[in-house]
Amino acid sequence: MPAKIIDGKFYSSQILDEVRGEVAEIVKTGERPPCLAVVLVGEDPASAIYVNSKKKMCADVGITSRAHILPAQVWEETLLLLIDKLNEDGEVDGILVQSPLPGHIDEDGVFKAIAPGKDVDGFHPYNSGLTAMGSDGGLAPCTPAGCVELLRREGIPMAGANCVVIGRSNIVGRPAASLMIKESATVTVCHSKTKDLAAVTRGADILIAAIGKKNFVTPDMVKDGAVIVDVGINRTEGSKKIYGDVDPACMEKASRMTPVPGGVGPMTIAMLMKNCLSAYKMAREKEKEDE
Ligand code: GUN
Repeated sequence: MPAKIIDGKFYSSQILDEVRGEVAEIVKTGERPPCLAVVLVGEDPASAIYVNSKKKMCADVGITSRAHILPAQVWEETLLLLIDKLNEDGEVDGILVQSPLPGHIDEDGVFKAIAPGKDVDGFHPYNSGLTAMGSDGGLAPCTPAGCVELLRREGIPMAGANCVVIGRSNIVGRPAASLMIKESATVTVCHSKTKDLAAVTRGADILIAAIGKKNFVTPDMVKDGAVIVDVGINRTEGSKKIYGDVDPACMEKASRMTPVPGGVGPMTIAMLMKNCLSAYKMAREKEKEDE
């Protein structure tokens, strides 16, 4: 039987409704709404599209946003100065520097410069550490957090499930593994050096594919009845169509599967809005503690 689609658009709109409701409650009390600062360096067309959709989504849920657009040749020091200014700005709750940055800029250094409490991407080592520790107190990266939220809302049992993550990036694979361990899954992380990858992935009750290669996961790699979460956003030259990391033919083997587009993608942006609201609330709580 072909897999049932896991509808990321549906669950993301649930999350956005929840965020919109909470923001409206905040504004009703006379407080300002949360504010996200988005920094874009250069003219990468895909990044510009992402930044625009983040701004639109902020407006949609009542979060204010500021865009800082810097030329591709900008000095690293200039970018770091802007981040310092945003770190100090009491009216800014979240800071997001759109990746990828031009080659002359040390991207990890830039992510480290963002104040951890405003790091809505969850890329700062402090937040990565909290995510690895299974702590609730930090900000987790939006894409893997969106994968787990999707599974939770779909009612997929995670405790005790064999979860295989393909990919070990700091943005998706590693934090996805940490978040699934927190859900008490038994987690295996695979990568380019993994031996007999298909044998490992065939053991997965939940397969999270975050490789970045079009249709990389084929039906022979999938156990009958597995749940597949496809994190891939792969573009082919000259076409606007996007492809996942999972061959759609895997639908015949899986019990449920996220589509591309319309699966993990909309969840990522919804989790960003949620992180922005969390950053705002954590800052207000800290202010109260400091009073
Ligand atoms: N570029 C692609 N995805 C992301 C993301 O989640 N955050 C940032 N900052 N840049 C990205």
